[in-house]
Amino acid sequence: MLSGRTPILILKEGTEREKGRDAQHNNIRAAMAIADAVRSTLGPKGMDKMLVDSMGDVVITNDGVTILKEIDVEHPAAKMIVEVAKTQDAETGDGTTTAVILAGELLKQAQDLLEQDIHPTTIADGYRMASIKAIQVLDDIALKVKPSDAATLKRIAETSLTGKVAGSNKELLADIAYKAVTAIMEKDGDDISVDIDNIKVEKKQGGSAEDTELIEGIILDKDRVHTGMPQSVKNAKILLLNTALEVGKTEIDAKIEITDPSQLQKFLDQEEQMIRDMVEQVKKSGATVLFCQKGIDDLAQHYLAKAGIFALRRVSEKDMKKLAKATGASILSDLDEITAKDLGKAGMVEERKIGDDKMTFVTDCKKAKAVSILIRGGTEHVVDEIERGLHDALGVIGVAIEDGKMVTGGGSAAVEIAMAARDYAATVGGREQLAIEKFADAMETIPRALATSAGMDPIDMIIGLHKAHADGHTHHGVNVYTGKIEDMKKLHVLEPLRVGRQAVRSATEVAIMILRIDDVIAAKSAGGGKGGGGGGMGMDEDFD
Ligand SMILES: Nc1ncnc2c1ncn2[C@@H]1O[C@H](COP(=O)(O)OP(=O)(O)O)[C@@H](O)[C@H]1O
Ligand SMILES: [Mg+2]
Repeated sequence: MLSGRTPILILKEGTEREKGRDAQHNNIRAAMAIADAVRSTLGPKGMDKMLVDSMGDVVITNDGVTILKEIDVEHPAAKMIVEVAKTQDAETGDGTTTAVILAGELLKQAQDLLEQDIHPTTIADGYRMASIKAIQVLDDIALKVKPSDAATLKRIAETSLTGKVAGSNKELLADIAYKAVTAIMEKDGDDISVDIDNIKVEKKQGGSAEDTELIEGIILDKDRVHTGMPQSVKNAKILLLNTALEVGKTEIDAKIEITDPSQLQKFLDQEEQMIRDMVEQVKKSGATVLFCQKGIDDLAQHYLAKAGIFALRRVSEKDMKKLAKATGASILSDLDEITAKDLGKAGMVEERKIGDDKMTFVTDCKKAKAVSILIRGGTEHVVDEIERGLHDALGVIGVAIEDGKMVTGGGSAAVEIAMAARDYAATVGGREQLAIEKFADAMETIPRALATSAGMDPIDMIIGLHKAHADGHTHHGVNVYTGKIEDMKKLHVLEPLRVGRQAVRSATEVAIMILRIDDVIAAKSAGGGKGGGGGGMGMDEDFD
């Protein structure tokens, strides 16, 4: 039997540990620091951040998730907040700053309650109840939008692009995003699904942002392997190959001993013959275009060119899959197995000069509609910012179409939630009531931040918004350009319902998770990498 009163140490030397209030306090502070880092970027009037990495590379952006991905965050609670941004981005493509600010604010408000000795579990319960209410409110105030309603869906895209890309490009990008998403959406009865991964985005510095265009087909950032090959192929029959058109690159190391020159010649002849045979097989299949995932030997390039076959090498696996889908080709790993059925079809495969580079365009694909977007812009920063903006625009149009629902922005939905939550709190009573009220306050950090970004007084703004909403103006929010409280529906400041839902849900979840931690046990690891976490560690108590 275990006996005695000596403490049993189960943690390695150097392990750091924080308990109770200290742990909570530090976690909350770290989370708030992350929220503060992105707060000033919120909305069309949000500021940009210039990020310089350890290599001296500069990124200028006001995109929440980009900022958080770029900065190296150490603290475990801060990392959890960064995860919220990533989830928000993956699920909806937008609303990352909002989600992070909300999470930080929920924790800040919780701190007041902790100081009044309200138990974290009670706060967590209140927050959970409030978030359910919030989502109900969002569902109630949501407006319908149909996939065919191009004008409205483009407005949703424009809202997500505001403040991200130069104003003049907003309409163009919204238009491109709408066309791209509607081209690849899949209908199954009344269900529509959109997988924006099916839209290929390529960027090429040069020209100007207005040259950004939608291509009906697939663009590959590659030029043909041999200038003797045709520059364009009409009614292309496409072979997709994922083995190399080379010899001698065997998996096993073979050693060949050559004792006299004639042997060497024989060996080379043999190698050449093998390459010729390979090209002959490609030719015999009837293929006029070859996309090879691996390398193509110089000699093979020569013979392919002679055969009038257009070929690219080292095409990425992702692109091979897209090509297979769009052209109906199968990806083959064995030249002996080609049948006519395996070849894909496209109306045109051609190499075009874009800026200083050459790219390959596979258009008029026969099997499935494929679209690509070619981003142009004068500088690398412009191209990158357009890429990020486009990502948001594609995301919001996609989820708005999938759900068929949207809400108004400019803080209008947040105020509606806050006011409903306060009414609800009164009916709940007890200590949870206090937590629900704090949740309401946290929601209003969104219109506050928007007001602040526009140089308005946030308190006046909130008072004004309360009045407007009490008078039944559900869609009134902050017009950051005029400094007035206006109808966001009329101003077409629209967002997908899912963006708001996801932001409320994940901000609440992470706030609760962080609140419930009262013990941080961090292993002293070299890189500060994978510490903490594991269950059952917090028990180095005495056996009394
Ligand atoms: N024209 C506008 N007027 C007022 N608010 C706007 C306007 N356009 C966007 N917003 C608001 O800006 C916020 C989004 O800002 P953004 O910087 O894109 O952050 P996030 O990363 O959360 O999407 C939303 O609350 C949205 O309603
Ligand atoms: Mg946004």
